[in-house]
Amino acid sequence: MFIGLDLGTSGLKALVMDDDQKILGEATAEMTVSRPKDGWSEQDPAQWIAACEAVFEALKGKVDLSGVKGIGLSGQMHGATLIDAADQVLRPCILWNDTRSHEEAAALDSEPLFRDLTGNIVFPGFTAPKLAWVRNNEPEIFAKVAKVLLPKDYLRLWLSGDYVAEMSDAAGTSWLDTGKRDWSDELLARTDLSRDHMPRLVEGSEVSATLRDELADKWGLPKGVVIAGGGGDNAASGVGVGVAKAGEAFVSLGTSGVLFAASDAYQPDAATAVHTFCHALPGTWHQMGVILAAADALNWYSKLAGEPAADLTGRLGTLQAPGRTLFLPYLGGERTPHNDARVRAQFLNLDHASDRDSLTRAVLEGVTFAIRDSFVALTATGTKMERLIAVGGGTRSDYWLKAIATALNMPVELPVSGDFGGAFGAARLALMAATGAGAEVASAPPIDRTVEPDSTLTDDFAEAHERYRAAYQAVKGL
Ligand code: XUL
Repeated sequence: MFIGLDLGTSGLKALVMDDDQKILGEATAEMTVSRPKDGWSEQDPAQWIAACEAVFEALKGKVDLSGVKGIGLSGQMHGATLIDAADQVLRPCILWNDTRSHEEAAALDSEPLFRDLTGNIVFPGFTAPKLAWVRNNEPEIFAKVAKVLLPKDYLRLWLSGDYVAEMSDAAGTSWLDTGKRDWSDELLARTDLSRDHMPRLVEGSEVSATLRDELADKWGLPKGVVIAGGGGDNAASGVGVGVAKAGEAFVSLGTSGVLFAASDAYQPDAATAVHTFCHALPGTWHQMGVILAAADALNWYSKLAGEPAADLTGRLGTLQAPGRTLFLPYLGGERTPHNDARVRAQFLNLDHASDRDSLTRAVLEGVTFAIRDSFVALTATGTKMERLIAVGGGTRSDYWLKAIATALNMPVELPVSGDFGGAFGAARLALMAATGAGAEVASAPPIDRTVEPDSTLTDDFAEAHERYRAAYQAVKGL
């Protein structure tokens, strides 16, 4: 029996599965984000611990946990949790979607060493620029920093007493030499930190620590339960949905959109704003394009139109060639491929015939083209996608799935309904750490159906994608 914990931004989810990966029980606890100033996004780590206590209390009421052999951790990436020499939290954690450090990020990014060693742009959401911001704005706190921990690694410290990070999450800090899978002393020095401020590194499927006896007694677990390294939430989801080796990929249509591909080689291309990170499995990397508004764009339009998203998309019928109307989904700026925090969303080429349905189609097409941008950027680095699984709330729209399959000119597979996210991936990593099993454990879920591209429309989508790209160039400076 194995437990996966996924420390998200709005809640912590726990899942317990048996040795055959059958889910036995789940529990979630909600958390809140505070936004004290424009662009700030913070969370008190005490919430994570309270949520962890709550999910274990709920789980132990549903399942006898005395057979648990391992725990795996998945978590929201990039957050800066700062602790002093007595493990006291020094300030609220600065989260992944906090952009206060955009100037520090640009300054670090202008030093070629960062892109050379990390394989990524230094985005304002990443961890290193946040520490530069604290150094510049809260020097008395910076002076007391003994360790910098990512959110799930702070939870691990509380669960086990050990300072440990793993490769996939560490790759989102801007301090990891992503090819060598090790902290870079040079990059740490650029933010006046050293290896001593960092936790020890393990692979996601390795044992990182063991659960404290006191907590094992409290929750009815045996003593000596191992805690796997785990993964950043996207890498853990990759393990959960069976995207573990080169050729396998998933597209997630959640609030944000992610096109994620596993790779057995380190082949970054920072300039395209592709994220190249270590995977949660040894000797494996992953690339992803991150689109800040996917289902979020549809939900925004649904609110504006005053009609539920499912109704708007449900009556679109069969896929049509894109019309002249274009939608650029950059409601809150964009990461891949533009790294542009200032650009905003656009409707272009509206005319007298534009109506609610044609705009719904434009919104779905706009997000689809954003995914195609990521697809182009990922494949240009040599990453292959032979198989693509779709997950997330947006997959409820057949029209959208058909548009994506057609725009990428590849079939999109829909898993049977079930839970294949970060918590499940973390439980699988726990299974690997506790039993020594390998990546074969991260199999793909059973597929419910496959959506094929409409070959009569692939040229229309390719041509419309060109216009979409030209539109960004035309409007970005406005
Ligand atoms: C990835 C990213 C998000 C966070 C939030 O780069 O910023 O996916 O991990 O969950």
